Amino acid sequence: MRVGVLTGGGDCPGLNAVIRGIVRKGVPVYGYSFLGFRDGWRGPLEALTKPLDIPAVRGLLPRGGTILGSSRTNPFKEPDGVAKIKSNLQQLGVDALIAIGGEDTLGVATKLHEMGVNVIGVPKTIDNDLNGTDYTFGFDTAVNIATEAIDRLHTTAESHHRALIVEVMGRHAGWIALHAGMAGGANAILIPEVRFDIEQVCRWVESRFRLDYAPIIVVSEGAMPKEGDEVLVSDEKDAFGHVRLGGIGDWLAREIEKRTGKEARTTVLGHVQRGGTPTARDRWLATRFGLHAVDAVHAGQWGMMTALRGTDIEMVPLSEATKELKVVDPSLYAEAEVFFG
Ligand code: F6P
Repeated sequence: MRVGVLTGGGDCPGLNAVIRGIVRKGVPVYGYSFLGFRDGWRGPLEALTKPLDIPAVRGLLPRGGTILGSSRTNPFKEPDGVAKIKSNLQQLGVDALIAIGGEDTLGVATKLHEMGVNVIGVPKTIDNDLNGTDYTFGFDTAVNIATEAIDRLHTTAESHHRALIVEVMGRHAGWIALHAGMAGGANAILIPEVRFDIEQVCRWVESRFRLDYAPIIVVSEGAMPKEGDEVLVSDEKDAFGHVRLGGIGDWLAREIEKRTGKEARTTVLGHVQRGGTPTARDRWLATRFGLHAVDAVHAGQWGMMTALRGTDIEMVPLSEATKELKVVDPSLYAEAEVFFG
């Protein structure tokens, strides 16, 4: 059996650990050979490949990014995209694909499976917003990076009597903001799932200053005020129809300064959150996903995705996992509200 592997969407710490897990089990235990496809779905679409054997995965465990490269290519937006993928897989002698990605990459995998391609999915996203799995790898790393940033910003905020705003990733789900905000002792956490009242945010800022502490506000890039919309860097859409978010932090700083008279500054963590080496927990999860993905290939569990349930890795249908995003439950957000202001 020859198995193709690809990584799509935004890069994520742990992608290389999954690839390593797949190859390190697939070659000796099942006698498979592997072929890497470059740059997400562009790889099988344009037959862009990279050799993938045991020497190729040496040293990958702690390495960030993805040795296969990534893209947001959507084969369903390309002329004859599916036919090209099927014909390239056949010509390259690839019997099955392991697709490692988030909602978009796995959404394509779901449809290709329905069209007869042998696909197994592995969930990745720092946003942790994929359904069917308790956690995705990359999330723990992103939360730790954001928490360290918040810890550091506390001391500078207090020295300068400034309100500091930390803008984190999270297009439709506030998991990073919620976890890092709680771990870092934020005075307000603003997430896409719950529209915020700017007057209330200003009251929290003022009450914090009254206690002689400077406030830290953690905001997801997709958070929205009660009256208003997402703040965009550009309304140009990618191949999956997503606009580029960014700027809510600066908007908040301007509003807080205007309404409270206190100095407010914003730090945008951006790609720092998903760059560099994965945490031990993400290496552990990514490695286990890789091992179980190759077991699923052996069992012919096409159209299924590896998922963490408690401490077990289980297989769940890709169609279930990609039906809708996993967003923050209001009861979890309510827990954090105790610390606001
Ligand atoms: O999907 C993960 C994510 O980190 C989102 O939170 C964010 O909106 C997006 O990627 C940005 O990715 P890029 O800058 O690569 O377009």
